[in-house]
Amino acid sequence: MGGASIFNNVNNFLTGGDYNPDQWLNRPDILQQDAQLMQKLGINAVSLGIFAWATLEPDEGNFQFDWLDQTIERLDKVGVHVILATPTAARPMWLGLKYPDVCITSKDGKREYPKLRHNFCWTSDNYRDKSAIIIDKLAERYASCDTVIGWHINNEYGGHADWAHCYCDSCITNFQHWLKQRYDHDIDKLNDSWWTRFWSHTYQSWDQIRPGDHSVEALGLNWVRYCSDMVEDFLAHEIKHIRKHCSKPLTTNMHGHLQITDYVKLAKHLDFLSYDSYPRIYGIEDEDIKNLYYESLYLDAIRSLKPDTPWYLIESCPSLPQYFSPLRLKRPGVHNMLSLKTVAQGSDSVMYFQWRAGRGSIEKHHGAVIMHDSPTDTRVTREVAEIRTNLDNINQTLGSTIKSDVALIFDTESIHALEHNHGGPTAKQYREEVLKHYRALARLGINCDVIDQTADFSRYKFITAPIAYALQPSFATRIHKFVSQGGHFLTTFWSGITDQDLCISAGGRLGPLRDILGITSEEIDCLREDERILLEAEQDWLPPKTHSSTYSELVHASHAHVLASYATEFYAGRPALTLNYLGDGRAYYQAAALDLDTLRHFYNRLLTEAELTDQLADIQNGVLIKRRSNSTNEFLFAVNFMEDPCEVSLPTGDWHDLENNLVGTEVPLDSYQVAVFTQSCG
Ligand code: GLA
Ligand code: ZN
Repeated sequence: MGGASIFNNVNNFLTGGDYNPDQWLNRPDILQQDAQLMQKLGINAVSLGIFAWATLEPDEGNFQFDWLDQTIERLDKVGVHVILATPTAARPMWLGLKYPDVCITSKDGKREYPKLRHNFCWTSDNYRDKSAIIIDKLAERYASCDTVIGWHINNEYGGHADWAHCYCDSCITNFQHWLKQRYDHDIDKLNDSWWTRFWSHTYQSWDQIRPGDHSVEALGLNWVRYCSDMVEDFLAHEIKHIRKHCSKPLTTNMHGHLQITDYVKLAKHLDFLSYDSYPRIYGIEDEDIKNLYYESLYLDAIRSLKPDTPWYLIESCPSLPQYFSPLRLKRPGVHNMLSLKTVAQGSDSVMYFQWRAGRGSIEKHHGAVIMHDSPTDTRVTREVAEIRTNLDNINQTLGSTIKSDVALIFDTESIHALEHNHGGPTAKQYREEVLKHYRALARLGINCDVIDQTADFSRYKFITAPIAYALQPSFATRIHKFVSQGGHFLTTFWSGITDQDLCISAGGRLGPLRDILGITSEEIDCLREDERILLEAEQDWLPPKTHSSTYSELVHASHAHVLASYATEFYAGRPALTLNYLGDGRAYYQAAALDLDTLRHFYNRLLTEAELTDQLADIQNGVLIKRRSNSTNEFLFAVNFMEDPCEVSLPTGDWHDLENNLVGTEVPLDSYQVAVFTQSCG
């Protein structure tokens, strides 16, 4: 039995990867071998032509599609689908030399000589025009080609953080225009919002505003917002030209931990989401486990951008990315575990960067399915073939999605805000705290969406927002509504500190969250690493003899109930955890930072109070449980991150393995095993 895919004529998981035959056109034997090997390994999809502009248009207006036609034909013969790329992430030399304005300008105002990739100016008319021409040509030519099932737009938009930022005059003028729109053409409004009287930064006109001065925090923050909007604008430009000719599903591959562009905005333009996943694992158990939870957090964030459709793992490394250090090979079973873990988290594919490694240039050592023109029967190719078989064995999970009653707020806006903020938590501390909450929920077997402050809250019963430091304009109002209508909400120390322009919230700490939480806040203490403050809790809200570490905030309960208090030093008697009843719901505040185990205990109680008891399980560290479902079945994936076998307690249910044998509540998991169970829905 097979599930449904979003692509026409596709009834199984996609396996395959980036395919760059343009690097091997003088080796017809290799091209032939590619097709045969793809067939042998059960590969059924490639992302094609991502960096091939120089081969597609070697001189301006000289279009060469024969090699692409032949490639697609060869792939079709062996049953390989094509996700065809727009080649706009890297451009031919002639383009940068003939039209220098297409090249990015660095911070010091220097127009760069053509080099690298992802290095174009976002407002260059020439780049827009030339990219439109090649996209039109491709889309027109392959719109009705059945082998082409979808489109891959550009590649990892933004590249590294700085490559999304062009400092040419045109980009800066456009930024000033963007600010004008954002602040209603009112320069005083901008000055007030940014607190520019500080150090005499008051702007008299829009053209005085230039990026690069970080003493006005909102300037830097709005510059990255603007750059992110330019990425979105360029994506829309590329899509517009595909859509002139073709309506097949399209994506752009997202990457890199939410820190560059605001994917919430990009996602709205895409038919399906795709992500490049390169979790860092080095063979040091604790570090690996932590990194795998980090990766899981990011995968859930991507998935949650379109929670009702599967996403696609479009790049991963079947061996080792060359930039890992140390370059420790994945142990047997690890690659399979990592791949199926992404499926557990909602992916309908396992694809790689890349199918065949090139013999030269800076990615020649990056682990690919086939290395250069080397032997082809290897540990990696055998594992790739094995994953195909494993995916076929769970084909009935295809098209299923993850439904969550619980959402964790973790967003690019907050990361950007903290990167530009002075004093208070760093972006790294924010990530670490969010990860701790994510891990606490994972240890309870909870399916958790990872959303931003603007998401639709009505889908959830419980929302948690660790360190909601900078509040988006309507966030508090929307949370107020969510809670009043019966939702349960938790937030923590360092929340509601500023507005979206990093000015302290009106009325002081917590800002508009004060009324929701029923508390006020005075100060926050950042503890030394070895410092602990004893906590005393009511009715099992925390385990006995628990301590606060890292942060201890001093709050007053104006009309909230106190669930736990500090018990020592000058904090003694001050609330550490509070609960406010508001309408039909509840708003909790965590003033004291808790360690992972304590947080897990706290969430167990919180989710029980939210009547989510039937979803709770007791999952050990290093094991991830995820549930996907479709209209008839629920699928439970249990992933063992660890080399050591273990036992996992499944949440309540009537779980069978996929061969329909009833399994108990405690199931053994082998080293790096991913086990899949099912039960019928309802
Ligand atoms: C990214 C890119 C690929 C390649 C890999 C190497 O994911 O999309 O083009 O550079 O990194 O890890
Ligand atoms: Zn520019």
